[in-house]
Amino acid sequence: MTPGLTPFAGNDYLGLARDPRLAEACSRAATTHGISSTSSRWALGWTALHQELEESIANFTGLGAACITGAAYFGGAVYYSLFAGSGRTVYCDAMVHSNQYLGMRAAGLEIRPFRHLDVVDLRRQLAAHSGPPPIIASDGVYGISGELAPLAELAAAARAVGAEFFVDDAHGFGALGASGRGSVELCGLAPDSTLTVLCSMSKAMGCGGGFLAGRLELIERCRRSPTASGSAIPPPPIAAACRASLHILRSEPERRVRLQANARRMRQALAGRGIAVVSEATPILGMVFADEHAAAAASRHFAAHAIAIPYFKYASEPRENLLRGIAKADYTEADLQRFENAVLSLPA
Ligand SMILES: Cc1ncc(COP(=O)(O)O)c(C=O)c1O
Repeated sequence: MTPGLTPFAGNDYLGLARDPRLAEACSRAATTHGISSTSSRWALGWTALHQELEESIANFTGLGAACITGAAYFGGAVYYSLFAGSGRTVYCDAMVHSNQYLGMRAAGLEIRPFRHLDVVDLRRQLAAHSGPPPIIASDGVYGISGELAPLAELAAAARAVGAEFFVDDAHGFGALGASGRGSVELCGLAPDSTLTVLCSMSKAMGCGGGFLAGRLELIERCRRSPTASGSAIPPPPIAAACRASLHILRSEPERRVRLQANARRMRQALAGRGIAVVSEATPILGMVFADEHAAAAASRHFAAHAIAIPYFKYASEPRENLLRGIAKADYTEADLQRFENAVLSLPA
């Protein structure tokens, strides 16, 4: 990012990435355990810090158990590998994140995409399903547009056919729901043995790595899957920072209240200038412009007002006229006013 610009993009929704408590936890763990895990959980990488982190996550999500990985991006590969050779079909939202497509393809599963956010299309396809119980998959929050998936309806459709239900909530965890459990909490989903959730620790948690949470039997198999067991776990300083971050996001719900208030204010400014935003429910603002050139010009306009909202061709979003900004919990009044002024003078 160009020095001097305030980030209005990225994924640090709660403003935790620069929290001194995380830096302190990191530095203490680096002194005690070194800066690298150097290996997988089975090959001496595991420390008491990792154990405590995994247990805290399992406890917080209420889903039974958790498996931490070096990156959330491994989640799809780990999860779908469990079903390789099972003959299961995956019915996934057509726009799920690339980590899911990677995992489904690597596992050789039959993929039947349903129209983006369209539960009616999913139900129509499920009515013709034959074979072993399928897997239904979605993102919780679509990372560029900020759209929230209709998780309650998807879960009901999954239950009706005895399916597994997989939700990639990389962008929801920590940021959404009264207690920060993510889009699953926001949509009122009760913990259920068929539900597996993938979360990122690099976004609202401000650290790094990812985790899968679900029933113990499935999570134990995740831990032994080739991807999870063949790559290094998060370094001990990051595991320590994740633990500190989890504690903060649980004990400081006011961060999510500020996040929502800031998102509302930013949306109002955009609406006042006649700029549509794809979704209302999340801190991601997918601003709609006429075309990619207008979106790129808006990005330059923001930069001229010391606001960093880069435009580029997002890998997981085909709509090239979207400019992705975010709200953060830690904006100052001056930051928000700068955003409002920049929006006011945006070329129509
Ligand atoms: C929906 C979604 N899932 C998974 C990931 C991977 O997360 P991480 O970068 O923490 O590995 C991303 C990254 O942006 C994402 O947008």
